Amino acid sequence: MDSRRRALIAGNWKMNGLRAPALALARALAAGVAGGRAARPELVVCPPATVIAAVAEALAGTRIAVGGQDCHVGASGAHTGDLSAEMLADAGASVVIVGHSERRADHGETDQLVAAKAAAAHRAGLAAIVCIGETEAERDRGRTLAVVGGQLAGSLPAGAGPANTVIAYEPVWAIGTGRTPTLAEVAEVHGFLRERLKALQPGWEEMRILYGGSVKPDNARALLAAANVDGALVGGASLKAEDFLAIADSAL
Ligand code: 13P
Repeated sequence: MDSRRRALIAGNWKMNGLRAPALALARALAAGVAGGRAARPELVVCPPATVIAAVAEALAGTRIAVGGQDCHVGASGAHTGDLSAEMLADAGASVVIVGHSERRADHGETDQLVAAKAAAAHRAGLAAIVCIGETEAERDRGRTLAVVGGQLAGSLPAGAGPANTVIAYEPVWAIGTGRTPTLAEVAEVHGFLRERLKALQPGWEEMRILYGGSVKPDNARALLAAANVDGALVGGASLKAEDFLAIADSAL
């Protein structure tokens, strides 16, 4: 990681977290941080929307920020079941993940929609974690850089910048599988994304680029030390306080 960029360790709880276990997890993280764990990186947890307010309350006054996992492009209106970025902010979130591959796959989200969601996040004063990543078939066809380059260019709105936007490179085939790219492959993609960011808009190369996909305590140190990796977006391992703290302890 470049020393100019502070590491960010973000936990994506996905569709996991009833109220009691979510609060227990939040409190365990808060206790760990109060005890000196995870001292170097910036920390965010992204619980399911139903418990954002409760988790935000439990983490108030700690170094751990709270984020949403998705938002609608609009601020309010007739969109049954959707949540606006303003609502997430109102519940205590300061960040929102947009364009996760599970949303791109399950809900047909396009780069254009993801860019609009990132813009909605910024409108509401939230930072956006914009996710990109190739499928296994795309990697096998040698299309990885073309795919992530296209997603990057298409998923960032005007008004994005290092202060309000973080990129998360998550190879789809590495999510929840226990498989990860080699460190050389991670460095190749992150280096490529850094160059593409600079080409898209000078200054954008200062955005943090997180790696996500089967980050665990035993591989976190190596992944976080790879060139141009500025942190991690953690799924399964973020559901265990000790694992998430151990990953965060590995950040440079
Ligand atoms: P896992 O860490 O469970 O592979 O999930 C990664 C992810 O999708 C984070 O957004």
